[in-house]
Amino acid sequence: ILMGASSPISPPIPAAVLTQDELKKIAAYKAVEYVESNMVIGLGTGSTAKHAVDRIGELLLQGKLKSIIGIPTSKKTHEQALSLGIPLSDLNSYPVVDLAIDGADEVDPSLNLVKGRGGSLLREKMVEGACKKFIVIVDESKLVDHLGGSGFAIPVEIVPFCWKFTAAGLMKLFDDIGCRAELRTCPEKNGKPFVTDNGNYIVNLYFQHDIGDLKAASDAILRLPGVVEHGMFLDMATTVIVAGELGVTIKNK
Ligand code: 5RP
Repeated sequence: ILMGASSPISPPIPAAVLTQDELKKIAAYKAVEYVESNMVIGLGTGSTAKHAVDRIGELLLQGKLKSIIGIPTSKKTHEQALSLGIPLSDLNSYPVVDLAIDGADEVDPSLNLVKGRGGSLLREKMVEGACKKFIVIVDESKLVDHLGGSGFAIPVEIVPFCWKFTAAGLMKLFDDIGCRAELRTCPEKNGKPFVTDNGNYIVNLYFQHDIGDLKAASDAILRLPGVVEHGMFLDMATTVIVAGELGVTIKNK
């Protein structure tokens, strides 16, 4: 014991910080509370939606949910749901979906979304466009002031045929605000193009300035031959569940 020495000051104990994945799981579990027996459920794609699908599978197994039909939004989610024993179907058999739960890349204050950085935007838009209620689950890092701001991409699914022509057409549409179109590639496959579940390519659009009128931008993109669908989900989400360090916030349309 050193007499007269000042006692060591212990460092402040840091508050428990949740990881981004823990926040995603919290949002996902909250969303699954809206699922009821006998519902047709749109099953989203991505690391957040994966937690929701896991949870639905768990509740089915425990007998707490019964007679659910899942409509997957990607081959990956199809595989996951199959492995969990969730009965699956499609929009041909169930053109009206009771509830869809999916993640998003960006959420703006009007609950417009950017989706598809996981590459599944077409099937997601079809299934989520067919549902009565669409719950989006995100951690708070996904909240933005404007879609496509801060240099993040808006993905567009295009046909592989003459894709450079389509990419050039997309850039030209947004000449006035500065737009760069980049083909999405797979580093793990020697930079080969990323191919969607539907056999298409994705180009990422990067904007220099605010897109402004999102509806006009959406219409212009969809009018361009070669374009299949884009990742702006305008006026589709009915509820957004946001998990943050300070708790869960539920935003309703
Ligand atoms: C896939 C998507 C995903 O929902 C989106 O990319 C969010 O992914 P994550 O939950 O992994 O952050 O749109 O096409």
